[in-house]
Amino acid sequence: MKFTFVTLFENLVSPYFEDSILKRAIEKDLLSIEFFNPRDFTTNKHSKVDDYQAGGGAGLLLNAQPLFDTLKKIRHTNPNAYFVFPAPAGKPFVQADAKRLAKKENIVFVNGRYEGIDERVVEEFANEIFSIGDYVLTGGELASCVMSDAISRNISGVLGNEDSLSEESFEGMLLEAPSFTKPATFESKTTPSEFLKGNHAKIANLKNKMAKLKTQYFRPDLYARSCTK
Ligand code: ADE
Repeated sequence: MKFTFVTLFENLVSPYFEDSILKRAIEKDLLSIEFFNPRDFTTNKHSKVDDYQAGGGAGLLLNAQPLFDTLKKIRHTNPNAYFVFPAPAGKPFVQADAKRLAKKENIVFVNGRYEGIDERVVEEFANEIFSIGDYVLTGGELASCVMSDAISRNISGVLGNEDSLSEESFEGMLLEAPSFTKPATFESKTTPSEFLKGNHAKIANLKNKMAKLKTQYFRPDLYARSCTK
């Protein structure tokens, strides 16, 4: 998988890939990242990338020309490039999207800043538009990091232990059951005794019950849509 980040601020994104699991994925050639700065594609004298909104409105927008030319170049180099636009007005990004997108060859995150992007760029290039939550960030970069992280861990070989993928939250639309490590008693709080007895079928059964209860309590919306009732 190659992640291409189109951003005015490479430094907001690149450090995220310099540690831990994603760093190792790059070292193992499972992942690569590249950056394009729309400022390098401007045709005006002062390399200006933003402007006032046509018809008025608060804040500046990223101009069509530099972004259009950046994305055209990316598409020309790789006709299979898949363009994802993070935006608060997008559809909610969920685990099923992370899994589905992990099968793509090259995802291009097009990051808006200021009040957004000239809509004509979105119309021409966007394969999908995603929001990571009902709040407004100062730009798309953080959302792109969130999505690329969630996608990466669904790429075969990226996680050390792939079992964690089938056991974790949102599998079957349930939150993950609580888990514990050693010691069995800590600060007078104990690990559920069934977890210590080694009967894996019983533990799995208990974890499934706990997952249901936790989902019902914390995310009744998710529970209502879950396949296990
Ligand atoms: N850009 C600004 N806010 C965002 C959000 N909530 N999700 C995705 N992209 C964004």
